[in-house]
Amino acid sequence: MEQKEDLSDRIWIEKGDITQLRFKVGAIVNAANSSLMGGGGVDGAIHRAGGPDIIRECSMIIEEDGPCPTGQAVITAAGNLQARFVIHAVGPVWQGGKNNEAQDLTNCYRNSLLISRKYMLRRIAFPNISTGAYKYPKDEAAAIAVHTTIDFLLENEYPLAVIFCCFDDENYNWTKYYLDNYLKQA
Ligand code: APR
Repeated sequence: MEQKEDLSDRIWIEKGDITQLRFKVGAIVNAANSSLMGGGGVDGAIHRAGGPDIIRECSMIIEEDGPCPTGQAVITAAGNLQARFVIHAVGPVWQGGKNNEAQDLTNCYRNSLLISRKYMLRRIAFPNISTGAYKYPKDEAAAIAVHTTIDFLLENEYPLAVIFCCFDDENYNWTKYYLDNYLKQA
């Protein structure tokens, strides 16, 4: 079997609420929608914990550039959160799998990682984008999240580390399954 690079100190999983991480990160990624105006789920939690600074900056971005397309991401300050920035990534709504959802979700992770590289962030934390209100199957979404991140880290120095913050057991178990599968072969 091909020897893989050991990324165990650059990628790991935490369980729980991404707004209450037990350490500081450069950026928290938000599972946003194209309006960037907040919502429920992790988006609601991030805006509640971060306060009004975040929505203020989101409004300015929307005014200048219009709605954020699916698969894209933008960066704002993080207000009261234990992070310098929030990266708002717009995941795809699951429509059965034949509507470019996998590519859109891959782009979501990759574009968030590209922003982190540009800002030379040390650590960033992702939630399981699209797996709540947007109903992306958690198994397939976890495979995309883990593999897109691994590919990116292998080619790039920044971000130094990526944390998957999984809120529910099913997301935690699938993310751990795909990550462990990779690390076991390293
Ligand atoms: N921390 C980490 N993860 C969380 C948290 C939290 N505080 N709250 C919810 N989650 C997890 C859920 O377990 C879910 O699997 O986030 C995952 C993504 O779910 P959603 O937040 O519903 O995001 P998504 O499916 O991408 O839908 C986005 O929902 O709230 C709206 O404005 C948002 O319209 C957008 C849509």
